[in-house]
Amino acid sequence: MPNFVKVAQVDELAPGERIVVEADDGLFIAVFNVGGKFYAIEDLCTHDGGPLAEGELDGYEIECPRHGARFDIRNGKVLSFPAVRDVPWFEVKVEGNDILVDIEE
Ligand code: FES
Repeated sequence: MPNFVKVAQVDELAPGERIVVEADDGLFIAVFNVGGKFYAIEDLCTHDGGPLAEGELDGYEIECPRHGARFDIRNGKVLSFPAVRDVPWFEVKVEGNDILVDIEE
C-alpha cells in the first residue's frame, strides 16, 4: 500500500532548489525540483552515509560531497564509484500546493 506523506509545499521549492525533510522517524529524504518536476531520494549515500543533498547537482546527477559517488535522482541508480549500491528513491506526487512522497518500504 502506498503511504504518501507531505514533505513540502510547491511554492517553497522553486526549480533548481532542493530540501531535506525527515519524512519518517530517522528517514531523511532529499526532494529536488528540476525544471518544475519533483524527485526524491534518501539523503544518505550508500557508500558511507554522506549527505547527498549537499552535493552538486548536474542535470539529474547528484554528486556525493564526501567522496564523489554519483546517483541519478530520478531512480536512485548509482552511476559511479566509490558507491556500488543504488540509493532508495521515492515516488512523488503533487496535490494542490502539497508535495507528497510515498515512503512505503
Ligand atoms: S559517502 Fe558518498 S561517496 Fe563516500
